[in-house]
Amino acid sequence: MKLLRHIFLFGSLGTLAMACGAGGDDQGTEYAPNMYHSVAYEPYTQITDPEAGAWLTSIEYSESEMPGHAEFYNSNTLNAAVMNVNMNMRTPPANTVPRNKQGWLPYRLPKDSLEIGAKRKSPLDSTAQVLADGKVLYESYCQHCHGAKGAGDGKVADKYAGIANLKGDAYKNITEGHIFHVITHGKGLMWAHGSQISPEDRWKIAKYVKALQK
Ligand code: HEC
Repeated sequence: MKLLRHIFLFGSLGTLAMACGAGGDDQGTEYAPNMYHSVAYEPYTQITDPEAGAWLTSIEYSESEMPGHAEFYNSNTLNAAVMNVNMNMRTPPANTVPRNKQGWLPYRLPKDSLEIGAKRKSPLDSTAQVLADGKVLYESYCQHCHGAKGAGDGKVADKYAGIANLKGDAYKNITEGHIFHVITHGKGLMWAHGSQISPEDRWKIAKYVKALQK
């Protein structure tokens, strides 16, 4: 019994010592390696070399699925139509336009079309939820410059002049479309926020700014 216990102890220590050998290019002894090396489909590329990753293959592909293929081989047999361009992603049909999950078309008006942009109506209703979301977003993206009440007195204004006072007469009558356009493209000293804030969130902020102005 004692002997057995010793064998077990040294055996475990030995295994532990080997497992600790990982580093650099050596991944050490892996238990169930196919849990670490899952075969991912990359959107823009397919690995068509059946030998790719053969040196670490531990997965036994079924003969029917991918016979004789190594671990990183990820050619997409279900998307063979695009094999010639070597992508997993399907190329969209010609002349299709991406819509977001609300079904909205992309905002394509360029920066110098503020007047047209100002005429656009918000697709959102003025619900309490929209205003509450708008407040949170305004506090994250606008308040440090424009101030908690929109008076152009945020922390940044302590150091830099020229931040618009959104409560002032000059801005009292700007539309939600105008605000949306300015958030999207920036204006004058203000930089664009279109790449950081989704269209839906920009409309929410615009609603909140209008509420602040009242
Ligand atoms: C880094 C500081 C800064 C941030 C952040 C910022 N703004 Fe501005 N904003 C400015 C400045 C400066 C101006 C004045 C631009 C000018 O006239 O040169 C301005 C102008 C405006 C105007 C008036 C545009 C016009 O027609 O003249 C609106 C509306 C506006 N900002 C809304 C927002 C909203 C909404 C946010 C948050 C998404 C925001 N801003 C974030 C600095 C900022």
